[in-house]
Amino acid sequence: MRALEAACEVDRYEGTIAIPHDELVARVRGKQALVCLLTDQVDRALIAAAPELKVIANIAVGYNNIDVPAARERGIAVTNTPDVLTEASADFTWALILGITRRISEGERLVRRGEWKGWALDFMLGTELRNKQLGIVGYGRIGRAVAARAEVFGMRVVHAARDDGRDKALALAMPLDRLLATSDVVSLHVPLTPETKHLIDQPALARMKRSAYLINTSRGPVVDEAALAWALRERMISGAALDVYEREPEVNPDLMKLENVLLVPHLASATVETRTAMADLAVRNVLAVLDGQPPLTPVP
Ligand code: GLV
Repeated sequence: MRALEAACEVDRYEGTIAIPHDELVARVRGKQALVCLLTDQVDRALIAAAPELKVIANIAVGYNNIDVPAARERGIAVTNTPDVLTEASADFTWALILGITRRISEGERLVRRGEWKGWALDFMLGTELRNKQLGIVGYGRIGRAVAARAEVFGMRVVHAARDDGRDKALALAMPLDRLLATSDVVSLHVPLTPETKHLIDQPALARMKRSAYLINTSRGPVVDEAALAWALRERMISGAALDVYEREPEVNPDLMKLENVLLVPHLASATVETRTAMADLAVRNVLAVLDGQPPLTPVP
């Protein structure tokens, strides 16, 4: 805020949850820059309501909340916050992998309910990761950072690619169907686009091993939640850990009833260090564009 206020007049929304869309449309009128969050729908109507807008700076790496073509038509720069959140997001993905395979939240719920009867040899056994296969769907910055941590846990890594890895450098690439059928942990790192919506649907879940786990830190709609609830209930897969949901902050009530799913509230980048760096990058993008410079991190 200090950096912005030193350079511009700032209209700051003070609410603690997302600004209502109508209010955002009304307040963006006459502004040259918009710093927004993944909870803000920056749609065509909003963009049309802001004829002076030069830059939309999303404080997120994902930008499915922004109508990028509508912005492009008007020559408005759209920026996101890549890189600065990669390591925090990859760390958090591993927290979820360990959390679900070692049943941490399930165990914690049991302790808090006062139902722990004591140590037993076969009590609440989880699954080890060593010598298992981690399948990464979406091998971008975050997917690669998740893969880089796998060696410590003794996992081999494969990633989904259209090409079957004839190129030796991509030896670990395999088609999604084969990745789903052979991986012990499947972790999603794709952006949400029309092509990735419900990428993990009922047939995809049915293809997975019954012993496998699904991890989603990307965007909720990449997974068909109703199908996932079915797969978890019917033990078509062993478990899932979700940071993101189809209709945040709503969580599918069928998922809420299940023990074999770990549910957390969209926290992958939520560290003081990373959120500060994300906000700072968004501000630097705004200041660059208002200064007539190219944005630092325009969306692809
Ligand atoms: C968080 O979900 C982000 O896209 O940064």
